[in-house]
Amino acid sequence: MVLTQENGEVLVTAGAVNALAAIVAAIAEEGDEILIPDPGWPNYVAMIELARAAPVRYRLEPEQGYRPDLAAVEARITPRTKAIIINNPSNPTGGVFDEATVRGLVELARKHDLWLISDEVYEDLIFAGEHVPAARFDSERVITISGVSKSYAMTGWRIGYAAGPVHLIKAMGTIQSQSTSNPCSVAQYAALEALMPDFSRLSLAIETLASFELECLYPRLLALEGEFAQRAATRFRQDIEAIRDAKATTAKESAIVDAERGESGVSHCLPIHRTERRRSGNGVLKQSGEEIHGRLDAS
Ligand SMILES: Cc1ncc(COP(=O)(O)O)c(C=O)c1O
Repeated sequence: MVLTQENGEVLVTAGAVNALAAIVAAIAEEGDEILIPDPGWPNYVAMIELARAAPVRYRLEPEQGYRPDLAAVEARITPRTKAIIINNPSNPTGGVFDEATVRGLVELARKHDLWLISDEVYEDLIFAGEHVPAARFDSERVITISGVSKSYAMTGWRIGYAAGPVHLIKAMGTIQSQSTSNPCSVAQYAALEALMPDFSRLSLAIETLASFELECLYPRLLALEGEFAQRAATRFRQDIEAIRDAKATTAKESAIVDAERGESGVSHCLPIHRTERRRSGNGVLKQSGEEIHGRLDAS
């Protein structure tokens, strides 16, 4: 993506946060409203308020796997609404939207003539199921945000990007050029290296995270009381079931059992979904799901 800007549909930014702030500054005027998820990443509120616009929260429903109720989202839309921000997969819930939800949100944006800002920085950090990119359903109305902070554990390098219609990307570029000029060129080359099609780097980042969740978080959540912890443990459990369904080897199963017992120091193997970035004919990012099997020998 860093290399393929010639048609103007991709802007490389100083982290995804700068891409989001540039979009908000480009589209919102004082008093405009932007829908944001609740619970959600708190920075959305600050960047919208900095642009003198108003954040309007829509609920992510725990009973629906932390997906929004489309009718409830629509009820929050007013004549001042400019955009809907979605975050899929979500920080902080870890919820992943299914295709019907993503498609429904894009259709809502189309129906009410809104931008759909799709924050997909966690697109690769999925253990089971598929990440559905919103741009798949409308490349003219959707602005896709991602970066290297999460997938490649490169937060400090400050490289993100936005993909969307040329006129919006151009406006964002104008804003960026007056605020940061451009993201650091050295960091861009480092990000380019991460994005080259060498799966081992991505799988290492995801394996490390999966290992942490399986070995550290899951047993601790099991031991905690309270609805939230139990619900989170249930979600972990579902991921683990999905791993088993994927015909886990004995080694994998024993790792899962060990994790439930609170033991670590075992070798284990996890099936992990990653997305392969491709550029479509019109230059908008597209992804396709591909399952790989990551292997980590814990020392
Ligand atoms: C949902 C979400 N979007 C965007 C970002 C920003 O990422 P970056 O480091 O690329 O600015 C974060 C960082 O925590 C995040 O959680």
